[in-house]
Amino acid sequence: MITSQSIKQTYDRFSSLYDLVFKPWLGFGRNRAVELLSPSPGARVLEIGVGTGLSLEHYPPDVEVLGFDYSFGMLKESQAKAKEQSHCPVNLMQMDAQSMAFADNSFDYLMSAYVLTVVPDPRKAVSEMFRVARPGAKVVIINYICSKNKLMGIIEDIFHPVFARLGLFTLKHDLPGLLKQHGAKDIRIEPTSFLRLHHIVSFTVPA
Ligand SMILES: C[S@@+](CC[C@H](N)C(=O)[O-])C[C@H]1O[C@@H](n2cnc3c(N)ncnc32)[C@H](O)[C@@H]1O
Repeated sequence: MITSQSIKQTYDRFSSLYDLVFKPWLGFGRNRAVELLSPSPGARVLEIGVGTGLSLEHYPPDVEVLGFDYSFGMLKESQAKAKEQSHCPVNLMQMDAQSMAFADNSFDYLMSAYVLTVVPDPRKAVSEMFRVARPGAKVVIINYICSKNKLMGIIEDIFHPVFARLGLFTLKHDLPGLLKQHGAKDIRIEPTSFLRLHHIVSFTVPA
């Protein structure tokens, strides 16, 4: 079972190896995600599950990024990238995506890459995103979403309980359905990552 504690332990333990494994594997979407987010000059962007900070180099110099993650190990890595590779000011903090310590309607731009699959309760995390986003805010999420392909559906059914039990990640995500329940507007979905297994989902928070 995936718990916040199991996730934290896993990422704390492997934070120094993360880039080696996941930079090439998941490297495709981050640049495009920031391009789709297209934050206006002076904007403050919230990045949820910032990890080792692989997205930080893609933000333009005239925005400010507030990034958080549950794992201190990952935050240590992102701190180094914030100093060495980022072109804009970056503030980092430890926080749980399922209960964010921000007031309602705080952000105009939100980004989250490859995170919802490893959050124990993605529904809570998505609700939190809508709560802290201002009406009309732009949100970009990179994630695995349930396949419409029957064969992939069977593969997901087989592997989902295995990966979930190992505390690694979950595969059953009807993210577009969940976003629609929250009234998301202009939902746009494009495939990304090696083998195009993940999708970049962008949308606008309803007014
Ligand atoms: C696959 S990594 C993705 C990291 C980064 N976004 C990237 O693009 O490489 C998943 C990240 O989500 C973080 N995470 C998992 N559960 C979380 C939670 N409940 N709250 C905040 N971050 C969480 C992990 O610590 C890890 O850094």
